[in-house]
Amino acid sequence: AGSAAAGTTTRPSEVVLGGLSRLEYRGYDSAGIARCGEGEIELFKASGKIQNLREKLAGHEASASNVAIGHTRWATHGTPSDVNSHPHLGGKHGEIALVHNGIIENFASLKKELFEAGYEFVSDTDSEVVAHLLAREYENAETLTEAMRACVAHLEGAFTLLAIHKDDPETIVAVRRNSPLVVGLGEGENFLGSDVAAFVDHTKSAVEIGQDQIVTVTANNVDVIGFDGTPVAEPKQYTIEWDAASAQKSGYPSFMAKEIHEQAKAISDTLLGRLENNEIVLDEMHIDPSHLRSIDKIIVVACGTAANAGEVVKYAIEHWCRIPVEVELAHEFRYRDPIVHERTLVVAISQSGETMDTLMAVRYAKEQGAKVVAICNTRGATIPRESDAAIYLHVGPEIAVASTKAYLGQIAACYLLGLFLAQVRGNLYGDEIEAIMRDLEEIPGKIQDVLDNSGQVEKLAHDMVETTSVLFLGRHVGFPTALEGALKLKEIAYIHAEGFAAGELKHGPIALVEEGQPVFIVVPSPRGRDSLHAKVVSNIQEVRARGAHTLVIAEEGDTDVEPYADVVIRYPETRTLFAPLLTIIPLQIFACELATAKGLDVDQPRNLAKSVTVE
Ligand code: G6P
Repeated sequence: AGSAAAGTTTRPSEVVLGGLSRLEYRGYDSAGIARCGEGEIELFKASGKIQNLREKLAGHEASASNVAIGHTRWATHGTPSDVNSHPHLGGKHGEIALVHNGIIENFASLKKELFEAGYEFVSDTDSEVVAHLLAREYENAETLTEAMRACVAHLEGAFTLLAIHKDDPETIVAVRRNSPLVVGLGEGENFLGSDVAAFVDHTKSAVEIGQDQIVTVTANNVDVIGFDGTPVAEPKQYTIEWDAASAQKSGYPSFMAKEIHEQAKAISDTLLGRLENNEIVLDEMHIDPSHLRSIDKIIVVACGTAANAGEVVKYAIEHWCRIPVEVELAHEFRYRDPIVHERTLVVAISQSGETMDTLMAVRYAKEQGAKVVAICNTRGATIPRESDAAIYLHVGPEIAVASTKAYLGQIAACYLLGLFLAQVRGNLYGDEIEAIMRDLEEIPGKIQDVLDNSGQVEKLAHDMVETTSVLFLGRHVGFPTALEGALKLKEIAYIHAEGFAAGELKHGPIALVEEGQPVFIVVPSPRGRDSLHAKVVSNIQEVRARGAHTLVIAEEGDTDVEPYADVVIRYPETRTLFAPLLTIIPLQIFACELATAKGLDVDQPRNLAKSVTVE
């Protein structure tokens, strides 16, 4: 992730450092800052957390120019180290500094060419190649912007680039292709960042930079051109809704803990204003209703937690709309020669809107003639921009790598989409939709009840701090809940965890159960469908009989589970389809508390990044 500032007082590197701290959640194995000094580029780099960079910069805050660029890295090419961290110097005398997000696919051939032309390489990164290439193009260009335009013409792959030149110490030039970049507008100062969190402390006014655009930023100016050199007359300006406080921990020990506890408010914000006079209102659904009536299949594409959200909503959308719904991991989707056509509706779920695997699935789907709806949390991100319609979660920024409130927001937003489709296609009458929405609108209050009673799960997590393996079981919508519960525990507590469909237990996983094995079981409402509840209760008995320690998540008043449960965790009554918005919460809290008790960095788990912008 990159951050940059132009024109900010005499200490631009401090502003950039602040921006990097806010972006650290996007990647955090090394960081660096470059700025223009007296006729040379000054460079500070450190592997590890931003704090290490802060220590290196201490005492060097003042600088000759008002411009600085910085970067926090999640390694793709080359291991995390000082030399591989950004910014990279370019040119035979280190006259350029550059930061890069993304991957340059043709870097090997470019590197060979530049090496033969006498450029020296100190790192293993594809990004250093771009720094030298930019320096070479600068030889024949009048400005850094022109050099950048010539440079990008040689590049294949995905890139956001920010660059400065020692001879033009008041200018930053940036470009964007398939990777995020936003500009913040201040008074006598301007900012760039991979997302608005980088500069939300300084300004609420932002400009979207489109695909294949170059932006030249000084203290008082922002000029945008296309890769072909044509000026972009009026770049899209917008006001940032997130306040600076939402990017702070506000007294919680971690962002994850804070985000878990924000979920009641988050979901009420997702639902806000979307039901009026018995109708679902989705102004953002810019797809012709007659087209929506012709849809005969829905494919959900997503990765990680977003894919688990997709698995949950499949049950609801099929039930309400009677359209087959497939859920596909985005990175698997296009390699299986999927059947996609004009009558397919593709739903791309992505909190960040920048996940490269999901973006590529969106592009593939569009090529096949499908319409795409994005379910996204980040305004102006690439996936919603490239989709035919976008439904935003409105849950506020999610900083912790492990997704919690966005997961709930994704489920709720897809429920709105499902109800909207049922309304447009005439599958449900207005009063049916209203009754369902009334129940959905009660969910935030019920989420708050679960949160208010989290002491029991917190204690359980502390008692289980030595655990090395945990299983999760569920049926119907409880199955993806089990998957998501297991994913949370793996991601942040580094504990081996598996989620299974409870019915599959006897076909294999039960072999894992031995004396003392902790097993979470997500139990559906006893008031729900047919024998679903009874089946899960017998699954509890099956594992208990083999010595499992049973941790049962059951509806309030469900006494059937009590004889077989070592621990019962309660959730309020609701429709079976809405239970996933409640039952996952104890599992999120369990993972968060257990990782905290183990002394781990909950917000920045090892090897993971918040938004993975490489395939
Ligand atoms: C990364 C994150 C996960 C997240 C996934 C999808 O792998 O570590 O927490 O679920 O990306 O992210 P998205 O922004 O597309 O929802």
